[in-house]
Amino acid sequence: MPGTKQKFDLVIAANRLPVDRVVDADGEVSWRTSPGGLVTAMESVMRGREGAWVGWAGEAGEAPQPFEQDDMFLNPVALSEDEVAHYYEGFSNDTLWPIYHDVIVPATFHRFWFGAYEAVNRRFAEAVCAVAAKGATVWVHDYQLQLVPAMVREMRPDVRIGWFNHIPFPPVELFAQLPWRRAILEGLLGADYLGFQRVADAQNFIRACRQLLSLPTKGDTVSESRSEGARRIRASAVPISIDFKGLEELARRPETQARAKEIRASLGDPETLILGVDRLDYTKGIGHRIKAYGELLAEDRVAPPRQMFVQVATPSRERVDAYRDLRTEIEGEVGRLNGEFSSIGAPAVQYLHHSYPRDEMAALYLAADVLLVTPLRDGMNLVAKEYVTCRYDNGGALVLSEFTGAYHELHQAFVCNPHDIEGLKQTIMRAIETPAKEKARLMRAMRRRVADHDVQHWAARFLDNLANAPERGGV
Ligand code: ADP
Ligand code: G6P
Repeated sequence: MPGTKQKFDLVIAANRLPVDRVVDADGEVSWRTSPGGLVTAMESVMRGREGAWVGWAGEAGEAPQPFEQDDMFLNPVALSEDEVAHYYEGFSNDTLWPIYHDVIVPATFHRFWFGAYEAVNRRFAEAVCAVAAKGATVWVHDYQLQLVPAMVREMRPDVRIGWFNHIPFPPVELFAQLPWRRAILEGLLGADYLGFQRVADAQNFIRACRQLLSLPTKGDTVSESRSEGARRIRASAVPISIDFKGLEELARRPETQARAKEIRASLGDPETLILGVDRLDYTKGIGHRIKAYGELLAEDRVAPPRQMFVQVATPSRERVDAYRDLRTEIEGEVGRLNGEFSSIGAPAVQYLHHSYPRDEMAALYLAADVLLVTPLRDGMNLVAKEYVTCRYDNGGALVLSEFTGAYHELHQAFVCNPHDIEGLKQTIMRAIETPAKEKARLMRAMRRRVADHDVQHWAARFLDNLANAPERGGV
């Protein structure tokens, strides 16, 4: 059992643990699945592997004691109130997140935020080293922990270090804006292998090393020399995926199917049920989607109760201004459309600002005739892959933005550019009106792709690339 052993051969570090600690008004403590695609993917990879997961438990203050869950050893890292504000909400989500997502909103730069980022990254690195066995594999995740690879290498030259970026890596023209660009690149270069969602992301990283650090690069490797010797670091694309088997099995359960029918019935059994599922994030293009849908309503090309639109928006980063503003904007737009186009019992847009359990999500996917995935920029978008996975009946239609990682794999989707509102409207109408037989052909092909490239396949590829990364001194 992992708890009886203090050191682990596989240690992962991610800003969040797979579960958040939640204390209710009566002081009652419970654990809830953490939001976002990183946790969805890594939870299924780690289940049964007997590794350690170093991460934050989602609330400020003292860290809970380490504990075991699903054969994983969870090792919580503490963040103070100030660190939540400066490292997590500030530098991670108000500096890096906008820069790494095409500056859809302006990025904020504060030197003291970077100070907190460094301090927290060091704490994570120390927590990793404390549980890593000699020669262990250390797998660091995402933009919140970009300094950790070099910090771990310095403390533990015996371990093998990989880093995976769940979000895009920006073009050098945007990355160069960061006053801390050198420190970030040097932090990442502490890894033996760096994985990205798209080939373009890996290339952006390699170009940044060449242009901003003047390091020699060749193909997908960067060379650097330090006092300890020369090293080659490989950076390549390994697109993430989902637990196809597990989710399909959930969708096939009679209870899930019954719930899907119930959802449709409670909406008046519409001809077309259109669904959106996102964290309430400005990268997701929710406003663009609602604008396009609003125009279709105004032109009477869609109308409730014939067409019903359900938008599920998971609460996210609610203390960051840009997220607060987005919520106000989206809820205002939804209110306006409902005021104008709803009738009693038939709302134009059903808006749900909640998180749901996995079985409810699967039932929603099964119930939906069309899923709208319209991000302005998204590393992958697992929601798109979850939708096709649940459609074992080959039903449904996926509208997919070309600015997602998923677009590079799901070629049979109804592809859209969310900035082109007229084009988006036409694509939504095509997704509604294409004959079922043709839609089934498209869905079948997309399902095959996800089945053959599931999350286990992704993890195996990443770990294999890490194990075979160029050795130190091999330049
Ligand atoms: P991101 O990681 O940016 O949030 P992804 O689409 O890659 O975007 O992953 C989102 C994950 O969160 C998916 O696994 C999805 O099922 C889940 N999710 C999204 N909205 C909800 C919700 N309201 N309730 C429960 N899970 C949700
Ligand atoms: C994306 C990021 C993750 C993050 C998740 C949820 O998936 O890649 O690193 O955990 O969003 O965001 P949050 O800020 O709530 O952790």
